Amino acid sequence: MPDPLPPWPPTTPAFGRVLLRQVTGADAGMARALASDPYVTATGTLPLHASEQEALAWVKRQRGRHREGRGFSFTIEEQASGLPVGHCGLWLQHLTDGYASAGYAVAPEFRGRGFAAEALAALTAFGWSLAGLERIELFIEPWNTASVRTAERAGYAPAGVRRNYPLTGGERRDMRVYAALRPMGPAADKAR
Ligand SMILES: CC(C)(COP(=O)(O)OP(=O)(O)OC[C@H]1O[C@@H](n2cnc3c(N)ncnc32)[C@H](O)[C@@H]1OP(=O)(O)O)[C@@H](O)C(=O)NCCC(=O)NCCS
Repeated sequence: MPDPLPPWPPTTPAFGRVLLRQVTGADAGMARALASDPYVTATGTLPLHASEQEALAWVKRQRGRHREGRGFSFTIEEQASGLPVGHCGLWLQHLTDGYASAGYAVAPEFRGRGFAAEALAALTAFGWSLAGLERIELFIEPWNTASVRTAERAGYAPAGVRRNYPLTGGERRDMRVYAALRPMGPAADKAR
């Protein structure tokens, strides 16, 4: 059993136009939209073209991630409309060793508007509020230009290649690694 995670954030992580909140049953429609993208379903636990029931089962799994010690699973919400536009997660199984990974996906109809970079900025700032977290890594397929741009816009830098990275579906692929390091300074030092 992994160590218990820090508690759910008392302040909602937010940046620019988006906030990050707990995944709820109201997100089943957004999850089904994500499930229309074969890349999203190949790299996570949503089945391709998920039914309402399968989407709700995914919601339930996401809501269990914190309790399981896996990490923080968030819906990305557009603040102005209150609409769920995507999903992101900060995965903390290695928190005691000082590092985490992050992932994100935006529903197809909301892509191309810069939501992912804002969500990643909110997720990353939230990460630095966690004591002991020094480095957040992203694993990006070499062809995934939109994700590379998202990483760069959120302040991540290239950090080499991870060979044979295991995807959720069991397949292994070479990934580009992008990393952000805890910024130096009094605010960040408080959480060290
Ligand atoms: C990657 C993803 C999250 C980006 O979300 P988004 O909110 O659409 O991101 P943005 O609108 O900020 O677009 C990102 C950048 O990529 C560019 N871009 C978008 N699609 C592109 C494409 N097919 N080819 C090249 N560039 C592309 C955009 O112009 C933008 O570049 P800019 O910063 O120079 O303006 C989204 O495409 C997605 O959910 N993909 C499927 C899941 C996924 O790949 N997740 C990441 C796993 S590592």
